[in-house]
Amino acid sequence: MDASAPQAGLAPGPRARPARVPVSFRVNGDERRLEVDTRTTLLDALRHELKLTGTKKGCDQGQCGACTVHVDGKRVLSCLTLAATADGREVRTIEGLGQDGEPHPMQEAFARHDGFQCGYCTPGQIMSAIALIEEGRAASDDDVREFMSGNLCRCGAYPNILAAIREVAGRGDRA
Ligand code: FES
Ligand code: FES
Repeated sequence: MDASAPQAGLAPGPRARPARVPVSFRVNGDERRLEVDTRTTLLDALRHELKLTGTKKGCDQGQCGACTVHVDGKRVLSCLTLAATADGREVRTIEGLGQDGEPHPMQEAFARHDGFQCGYCTPGQIMSAIALIEEGRAASDDDVREFMSGNLCRCGAYPNILAAIREVAGRGDRA
């Protein structure tokens, strides 16, 4: 059989245009409106459309936690969240932490305890750590290790990250 011959039923048709949807949400307290491809992730919408590049893309497969943000106060992996599902919701990113020009206590604790080296995982670690305490899951070091286990750090800063979280949770000393 001639492999180059066109096969019945496989003739190329006009390409369907990707569907776009409006998204209206609050990001770090500001009302934002976008029109996105239905396949756009929240991570890409934040980084590419809104230029909020503090949220990092590590694996883009839900395995490293670098992309962690808060949606309606709960931590989510923004690489696995479609931007369209954030419609009407409140999103908080690392850029939205702190008040009046002062860093969030968790950011200060990470700096005090050297909770990072290259810093690539740090925004996700901090967003996760804040949520962890709000979830009431920082009562012991074992709990912190367990409930932070979705946030990987290739630099191995885990002991210092733990110390920072312990301090903010009220169970540890300032470095
Ligand atoms: Fe989302 Fe790795 S980039 S989990
Ligand atoms: Fe480098 Fe965590 S500080 S990956």
